[in-house]
Amino acid sequence: MSLLKSNTFISAHDVTDINALADKALHYKANPFIDKQLGENKRIGCLFLNPSMRTRLSTQIAAQNLGMEAIVFNVGSEGWQLEFEEDAIMNGKTVEHIKDAAPIFGKYFDILAIRTFPSLVNKEDDYSELYINQFIKYSGLPVVSLESATLHPLQSLTDVVTIKETYTPFNEGKRPKVVLTWAPHVKPLPQCVANSFAQWMNAWNEVDFVVTHPKDYELDKQFTGNAPIIYDQNEALKDADYVYVKNWSTYNDYGKIYNSDPEWMLTPEKLQLTNNAKVMHCLPVRRNVELSGAVLDGPNSIVTQEAGNRVWAAQAVLSELLQLQ
Ligand code: CP
Repeated sequence: MSLLKSNTFISAHDVTDINALADKALHYKANPFIDKQLGENKRIGCLFLNPSMRTRLSTQIAAQNLGMEAIVFNVGSEGWQLEFEEDAIMNGKTVEHIKDAAPIFGKYFDILAIRTFPSLVNKEDDYSELYINQFIKYSGLPVVSLESATLHPLQSLTDVVTIKETYTPFNEGKRPKVVLTWAPHVKPLPQCVANSFAQWMNAWNEVDFVVTHPKDYELDKQFTGNAPIIYDQNEALKDADYVYVKNWSTYNDYGKIYNSDPEWMLTPEKLQLTNNAKVMHCLPVRRNVELSGAVLDGPNSIVTQEAGNRVWAAQAVLSELLQLQ
């Protein structure tokens, strides 16, 4: 049975069994080339409208492990500027409409993978996932999100994989306490990683999930669900087994910075409140702004292991999409 509901992977809701997909990723970690024949004579187009390091490299490696050819196109910096508005009169900066470009990707590739960040200006467009939905609609291809306007599903699957492989008491039926904490930053960042992490933790339903952030940084309830929201970070961190650190800009008054209080940075002193928690971050991270260097360089940080697992998460998803073809 497929672990994906259809040939798109843009959200936790596209997965039939998160545990099984994470297990598949761990299976690939132990046996990277076991399905080398699966993607033979298949090609994935990885389109980046925005910068990337981990997502770009891990997706290419995952595709190659499955025998696929991966072609990367930095649309945002090297391609024609795309227009997404349905009936736009294109007398401005945009050069090519998505309706004209996407079907061409459909001729070149077997799978399309896309990174398209939010504007942080037009909340309605961002939260309707206008851009990635246009690629899905007009390319006619299986589509994988490499981070869209509101979600980052390959990152979140990686995070599930990383918790699964590092939390041994799972075997004794004990649930870990996982805390998503807001952290300061110097510029307004998307809510994607935080939304996505919350969505996947809730959908996975194998952890006790808590969110902490300053007042007015509430995320969209469709992602946080029934998770307790605690405004006192110290209280939230008590007895945590995992602390997931991430900045996001305001959701209600969209895309703003209301708070840059350094007290919210995760430090060794704050870690003392936890159950010797493992510390996660999707990276890139602003050292000594979001997370102290002492935490990042210390024994509790698993950020490098987490980033390494991006390959296996991507490989599990691409493998499922190839098997649907
Ligand atoms: N975590 C993550 O998506 O990293 P990149 O932006 O470098 O791809």
